[in-house]
Amino acid sequence: MTAPKYALKPVSLSAFTLNPGLTRRSAFARGAELLTLAALGTAAVRSIRTVRAADAPSGPFGAPFGASSAKSRIGVFCFTWAGSGGEVASEMKRLNPSVTVTRIERAKPYPEEYTPTTEEAKREKAAAEFPELRPTPVSPKDFDVEVIGHPVWGGNLPRPLFTFLREHAEEFRGRRVLHYAMHGGSGLGDTDEDMRALLPGVPFRGVAFYGWGGLRDRDAVGIWMKQEGLL
Ligand SMILES: Cc1cc2nc3c(=O)[nH]c(=O)nc-3n(C[C@H](O)[C@H](O)[C@H](O)COP(=O)(O)O)c2cc1C
Repeated sequence: MTAPKYALKPVSLSAFTLNPGLTRRSAFARGAELLTLAALGTAAVRSIRTVRAADAPSGPFGAPFGASSAKSRIGVFCFTWAGSGGEVASEMKRLNPSVTVTRIERAKPYPEEYTPTTEEAKREKAAAEFPELRPTPVSPKDFDVEVIGHPVWGGNLPRPLFTFLREHAEEFRGRRVLHYAMHGGSGLGDTDEDMRALLPGVPFRGVAFYGWGGLRDRDAVGIWMKQEGLL
């Protein structure tokens, strides 16, 4: 049996200083097919890569969260640094035009380079910061179903998600929330715990998509959406 590429949780940020030459741009290029940011504002349309069924999403699926909500207004709020989370958001919109994608962005952008970004993420996390965000044009209360898209950083939600969820906690009350975690080997990590702490009492469910160097399995997005009643 070959060793996994990354340690399973707990994962420290230092475990992800694996490729100091990696930049956001090269991470994009590695993903190779960024339908991504058509919906998120960056025109980057490439060919769709072959999907691997083995990468189908893992996670607890019970009754669909978005049951009978295929025609509901679905708000996807997505923070992405290297683009794979944006690919998922684009695919969601392609499959269901009722999806509105809103990008969560830190007011002061993260560096382009990978290592400085991990250092900045590590610093923010140690300081438990709530970084300022760029204003978003829509609010979670504008939608029937909320979906939060994010990468896993150091086993946790990136700090901009802490700001976003704290700022909008009231608007999530009484709703059901889905989140998808883009990861490079750790799965959801501790992001469920972070969600629970930030949105106390709000039912939510998470799914993990492998996204190191781009979304690996585009079909997994549709499978997950069906399972959650979003299609
Ligand atoms: C600062 C930083 C920290 C990361 N920490 C983790 C981690 O703890 N676990 C993991 O599986 N992947 C980790 N990764 C890899 C990303 O989560 C993964 O590539 C993800 O697909 C990126 O999503 P994005 O393309 O939407 O930015 C990290 C990447 C960065 C830049």
